[in-house]
Amino acid sequence: MTLAVPTALSGPSPILDLAGVTLEVNHLGRAVRFYGQVLGLPLHHLDEQRRVARLGVNAAQSLTLWEPVTRQPNEPWLAPLRARGAGHLHLAFQVRPEDLPRCRTLLGTHGLPWQEIDLGTPDAPDPTLYFFDPFGHGLELRGVNRHDPRQPLCPAPDHPLTPDTHTLPVIGLREAALAFSDYAAMKARLPRAYGFAFAKEQEDRDFAQFTLGPWPEPDGNGTPHRWLYAWDAQVGLADMLGGDHALLEFYADVPAVAARVQAEGLPCVADAGRLAARDPDGHVFVFRPAPGR
Ligand SMILES: [Fe+2]
Repeated sequence: MTLAVPTALSGPSPILDLAGVTLEVNHLGRAVRFYGQVLGLPLHHLDEQRRVARLGVNAAQSLTLWEPVTRQPNEPWLAPLRARGAGHLHLAFQVRPEDLPRCRTLLGTHGLPWQEIDLGTPDAPDPTLYFFDPFGHGLELRGVNRHDPRQPLCPAPDHPLTPDTHTLPVIGLREAALAFSDYAAMKARLPRAYGFAFAKEQEDRDFAQFTLGPWPEPDGNGTPHRWLYAWDAQVGLADMLGGDHALLEFYADVPAVAARVQAEGLPCVADAGRLAARDPDGHVFVFRPAPGR
């Protein structure tokens, strides 16, 4: 029998959407308070002993916080891959464009320095707000067009999980930016070894954009899709850094990703229908079946 060895992506990507992001924090209680009281994310799960908190962003996406504990993995099934939460990750949240004025006010109310950059054009402005959490993760609020027909697997809902006039009205995860020490190797590996859909790269920086969906899409202009950005070790807009040793979770066609990961020979573990692989650049990617499948 001849096994089909996956090559660079030619058909649809097996990666369907962004399911979650895990951040490393040095004080779990302070992190839960920040993400609960400033971003309004409800606490769904807290494990005091393992120093893990999982917060909801919407019904399909979550933000997980890990405080490192000496000689104890935060998540046992990922221990063989030496998974950590991301260090200094750039992470963008989706908001309704009409909520951006309120976001500017709320950032000031919470005493957070912020910066605004227009990523659009004079005809179609795309104002974006950048600020930092207390742990060095670079956060962004970006408008999403909920009426665009090109919706992702898990569209952003109309309202935050817990609408509150005092918290930032985030309705989805939009993007995560990771640092890669070998940009050229990354650009070849991510489509080949996992099936990420390469969309484009910037001309002036080593910055590749992968659409988290079956087909590459144009970025910007309120696109409802989610994104993996991959940089070399550099500072991006608003002093945002790509994350090191990041832990990201994706909805995916898990058997299709597993065939690629195994052909690549990457360290991987499986648990309850999920597959996790350790990327040579130190990131860990978890792939899980799409909701309801
Ligand atoms: Fe960004």
